Amino acid sequence: MSRIALVTGGSRGVGRAVAIRLAAEGTAVAVNYRRDEAAAGEVVSAIEAAGGKARAFRARVDDPDAAAGLVRQVRETLGPLDLIVSNAGTASRGTAIADTDDEEYLRLLTVHALGPLALIRAALPDLRAAGRADVIVMSSSIVDSTPRNGAPYTMAKAAMEAAARTLAYEEREHGVRVNIVAPGLVATDMGERLAAASGGATVAELDAGYPFGRVARPEDVAGVVAFLASAEADYLTGQRILVDGGGPDIPIVAPLSRG
Ligand SMILES: NC(=O)c1ccc[n+]([C@@H]2O[C@H](COP(=O)([O-])OP(=O)(O)OC[C@H]3O[C@@H](n4cnc5c(N)ncnc54)[C@H](OP(=O)(O)O)[C@@H]3O)[C@@H](O)[C@H]2O)c1
Repeated sequence: MSRIALVTGGSRGVGRAVAIRLAAEGTAVAVNYRRDEAAAGEVVSAIEAAGGKARAFRARVDDPDAAAGLVRQVRETLGPLDLIVSNAGTASRGTAIADTDDEEYLRLLTVHALGPLALIRAALPDLRAAGRADVIVMSSSIVDSTPRNGAPYTMAKAAMEAAARTLAYEEREHGVRVNIVAPGLVATDMGERLAAASGGATVAELDAGYPFGRVARPEDVAGVVAFLASAEADYLTGQRILVDGGGPDIPIVAPLSRG
């Protein structure tokens, strides 16, 4: 039986690649977006042109009521969900903790954790009834590196990772798998902004210094999502897969010779 997936933030970047990849494997895809209707429409057209099935759905995941409403809309249009890729997200303003107010923490926590949890909660009856269902949460390797000026984003991603691991235990008895994908820098609009913010470079300028000679592409992340959603990953839950080419290469400092 073909699956029905909701990809939040499916109109651009990582979500776009995930939507196209899942559709290519026979999954009907709800492509969620916030405001770029043309971009979402382009993803739907690309999927349909390749023989797949997709519909675009406008909703803000940082509005928990709208996120729950999105699930209802998808159910009415495509049918009951058995795969959620919680991918939509935004970066924080890039200020130090000393200069960051509560509002910024709450903004990031809402888009990356509270909204997605409302969405997942609304979908759980469908997910539990599916026999095999998956929730895949897009996090970030930033949770491990905790760089300066990123606390609201890092904390929000860490909060969602904690919730995802908890959910994996709670929903295992209902057949729902919950896994986390944590990319490093990815060549997307957000990736370009992050590259510019951390030193004024473009992704193309950074490519040569990255593992395998390139910053990750959205398709690298989409491949891992497709694996987690496949029958091959039937016995995986509560896992976190880093898609960062092996992470930072910290040279081992040779012991100083004492002459
Ligand atoms: N790029 C990176 O380097 C990187 C690294 C690690 C993790 N990530 C994570 O990967 C995910 C995707 O990032 P990306 O680089 O693909 O970002 P992106 O290129 O900026 O695209 C963001 C997508 O999310 C949607 N979106 C943003 N806020 C939304 C909201 N409140 N409600 C619904 N949709 C919303 C956008 O829709 P509209 O176009 O309609 O606004 C767009 O489809 C995010 O969770 C991000 O934190 C990214």
